[in-house]
Amino acid sequence: MALSPLLLLLPLLLQLADSAAARVLLVDQTPGSCKMSELCLQSPVKKSDALLVNVTLYYEALCNGCRYFLVRELFPTWLFVQEILNVTLVPYGNAQERNVSGKWEFECQHGEQECRLNKVEACLLDKLEAEVAFLTVVCMEELDDMEKNLRPCLELYSPEVSPDAIMECATGERGTELMHANAQRTDALQPPHKYVPWVTVNGKVLEDPSQLLAVVCQLYEGEKPDVCRPLARLRRKVCFK
Ligand SMILES: *[C@@H]1O[C@H](CO)[C@@H](O)[C@H](O)[C@H]1NC(C)=O
Ligand SMILES: *[C@@H]1O[C@H](CO)[C@@H](O)[C@H](O)[C@H]1NC(C)=O
Ligand SMILES: *[C@@H]1O[C@H](CO)[C@@H](O)[C@H](O)[C@H]1NC(C)=O
Repeated sequence: MALSPLLLLLPLLLQLADSAAARVLLVDQTPGSCKMSELCLQSPVKKSDALLVNVTLYYEALCNGCRYFLVRELFPTWLFVQEILNVTLVPYGNAQERNVSGKWEFECQHGEQECRLNKVEACLLDKLEAEVAFLTVVCMEELDDMEKNLRPCLELYSPEVSPDAIMECATGERGTELMHANAQRTDALQPPHKYVPWVTVNGKVLEDPSQLLAVVCQLYEGEKPDVCRPLARLRRKVCFK
């Protein structure tokens, strides 16, 4: 049940990324302040006006394929190119909703516990800042017994939020409201989803989930991050003794 070393390193990595971003901001805030004769600090990250690539994952908490995609495809892609991504998670998937005398009730593919966890994740996405919410959901989905993971995952990424507050949201009216919104969003998909994980990139279905990084790199219209450079170019290089 130990958290993976990569996840434990993440807060540090994010801090490094943040301070790089802060340096860019400082430089950008004082245009023209850098004189020709001075050695000027160069932005480590190029800012760009290009639109972020929208990646939306329709999924349900206990589906193994969803967990695999989230942890092994979406999360690494996000680590590589988060500066060009706008990720949206929609927990609901193959669930169904019914109006029972004015109240929404849900039936989930993997039973009651999945409905409960979908709501927990919807509440995390509602209450936490986007990046922290994403990391917390990945953390929960990475390990079995997800409900038990809520506490250590929150402690890692958002220690000021109590698991009780999240559970109160999940089991209360807000949880129902959020799930209904996710139901409407999922049911409005055109074309309708045939399975989960169902992934859209800029509104279009991603047929082959293993191509996520390549597709995101291809669609981004700004200057591409280094990781997007085709590996093909490196193929013929050898290292002589
Ligand atoms: C990110 O996606 C959400 C919808 O999922 C949208 O409301 C928001 O405008 C998008 N943000 C950007 C910067 O594209
Ligand atoms: C849900 O059902 C109640 C009564 O059973 C009805 O008054 C209400 O209009 C229904 N709401 C929707 C959105 O269908
Ligand atoms: C991403 O979604 C937002 C909100 O719907 C939209 O304004 C923007 O144009 C989308 N980006 C791309 C690259 O399609």
